[in-house]
Amino acid sequence: MDRIVAVTGANGYIGSHVVQILLDRGYRVRAGVREPHSQERVGHLKKMESRYPGQMEILPTDVLEIGKVRELISGCSDLIHTAATVMIRASDPQSKIVNPSLIGTQNVIRALNETPSVKTVVHTSSTAAIRPMQWENGVTLTSDVWADDATIENNPYGLAKVLAEREIRKWHEEKGVHEGRVLRTIHPCMVFGPPLSKYHLRGSLTILMMLARRSIPAIIPMNINIVDVRDVGEAHVRALDVGEDGGRYLVTSGSMWMKDVVNELRTAFPGHKWPRLPIPYPLALIAAAFHPSASINWARTHLRTVLNWDSNPAMLDLGMEWRAPQESVIDTFRPIFDSNWL
Ligand SMILES: NC(=O)c1ccc[n+]([C@@H]2O[C@H](COP(=O)([O-])OP(=O)(O)OC[C@H]3O[C@@H](n4cnc5c(N)ncnc54)[C@H](OP(=O)(O)O)[C@@H]3O)[C@@H](O)[C@H]2O)c1
Repeated sequence: MDRIVAVTGANGYIGSHVVQILLDRGYRVRAGVREPHSQERVGHLKKMESRYPGQMEILPTDVLEIGKVRELISGCSDLIHTAATVMIRASDPQSKIVNPSLIGTQNVIRALNETPSVKTVVHTSSTAAIRPMQWENGVTLTSDVWADDATIENNPYGLAKVLAEREIRKWHEEKGVHEGRVLRTIHPCMVFGPPLSKYHLRGSLTILMMLARRSIPAIIPMNINIVDVRDVGEAHVRALDVGEDGGRYLVTSGSMWMKDVVNELRTAFPGHKWPRLPIPYPLALIAAAFHPSASINWARTHLRTVLNWDSNPAMLDLGMEWRAPQESVIDTFRPIFDSNWL
């Protein structure tokens, strides 16, 4: 296959699965990573590189540096842009959360303008770019909705994902589409499933790790929308070839209450000590206000409420089928226990 696919954020949790699937399917891969010499961040990609000799190159790519993005995509046929900061709270949200997404995507656009060989762009967005701050309990949201009420104060991660996606869509509508270049965006909810490195136990796996390490000692009244990282990777790779031009694809499989997540884990891994007691709602709010990766606004929106997502377009257009959330939860921990990463 003579297609060369550039991937930003290639060492990340989702990026690594994308790279793995691309290599399995015979694509050539340019893997862009911020810290190419870090064994902790890139060791697992180097192993992939040696398993697929000549099929993959790892390039230093900080997306905040336009020259590096140019080098990454030069001569490539496709780009999968996953790089972003996955964090809902930071002391300086503009520089830590918004800029990596927004400026990173602006640099991608500048590089695309200079690199006509890239015909297809798959951009990793999120349900965070869709979910408004308030919703009616039990509602099903579609990809027609935008999180336009996100602000730097109340939802910096949502703002980052909205701004970056709007930028790349504007480029596509005003320029890309007239040059026959295709754009599709992929919108995962909370991603669980096997980490390919200990480095992946951050980001969306934080909540499961907090349960496993009992740094949340009790069970929070939270309904979690889940999609498997292997399905997220698959959706990105399929979106290189199928789907509507400009398609905005929600990738979500279902939801589970945290108590059911813990019950599944207790049954699958009875030798491990999991939290047992439920935490009352008011206490959960207070705990979230003081927790470094949560906030009171986040807790008010996410605790005791149910939100559904319409992932039918991804099933129809990309031919996706979803692993059950229970399977994703359990499979998250198989490599963790096997490799003693706890
Ligand atoms: N995980 C989820 O639940 C979820 C849900 C919806 C959408 N998403 C989206 O999926 C994408 C990947 O997330 P993930 O879960 O795989 O998180 P992750 O494991 O933290 O991966 C993020 C990747 O982006 C890279 N990155 C960050 N800033 C960068 C910069 N300035 N230049 C180059 N690379 C940079 C990181 O590099 P370093 O390793 O060097 O930091 C890492 O490779 C993100 O766009 C995220 O918004 C994730």
